[in-house]
Amino acid sequence: MNKFQSAQSVGEIVSMMPGASEVFKKFNIDFCCGGHRSLSEVVRAQNLDEAEVLGKLDEMYEKTEQLSGHTDFRKMTLTDLIDHIVNTHHVYLNRALPELSDLTNTILRVHGPTHSVLFRVHKLFHSLKMELEQHLIKEEEILFPLIKEYDVNLSEPLLEKISAIVKETEEEHEAAGDILKELRRITEDYLVPADGCATYSKTFQKLQELESDLFQHIHLENNILFRQLGLEVR
Ligand SMILES: [Fe+2]
Ligand SMILES: [Fe+2]
Repeated sequence: MNKFQSAQSVGEIVSMMPGASEVFKKFNIDFCCGGHRSLSEVVRAQNLDEAEVLGKLDEMYEKTEQLSGHTDFRKMTLTDLIDHIVNTHHVYLNRALPELSDLTNTILRVHGPTHSVLFRVHKLFHSLKMELEQHLIKEEEILFPLIKEYDVNLSEPLLEKISAIVKETEEEHEAAGDILKELRRITEDYLVPADGCATYSKTFQKLQELESDLFQHIHLENNILFRQLGLEVR
């Protein structure tokens, strides 16, 4: 008997076990913006072996069980979850985005003439950077303070206001997710060419870190935070 069922949504599985995100990434399963789809739906659409995916999820479950004290984000208050998101994922982005801006500039200058894909990498990354910078400010200055207020004052008009902003926020997550998918596609899964230098590898490795962190970040917001508010956004 598997620990997880294919009728569950992929977002729900990651909520129950954050480590599932690692498994889903290996199978190229989108668990943040596409988190509302059931595992069986995804498996069918992507022509995957359902038993294999469920088996890998079980392995991850056992691994997670052995590591005691993993955080169950679903049990956190809205305020604590927001603080965790900001202190972990927003802090990470504020550090990683400028660093990646320098790195993509450097490799464009050195390797752009022989690897034209780097022009597209540079452009896509910088459009993602600009969108995320605005997105983080919007969350920190508008959306999150409203949710924190709602956490202590369950008011209907407040929830309506939040709901409209959440919708916009989800669209921005989707747009960010699309840019990340495009980056992965054009770089052929971040393949470093044989003549790529150490900075080239470092840049691609950091872009992959950005992808992992952002997927987990969007997952926490879409599938846990917004769902805890009882908003059915989709
Ligand atoms: Fe965020
Ligand atoms: Fe967000």
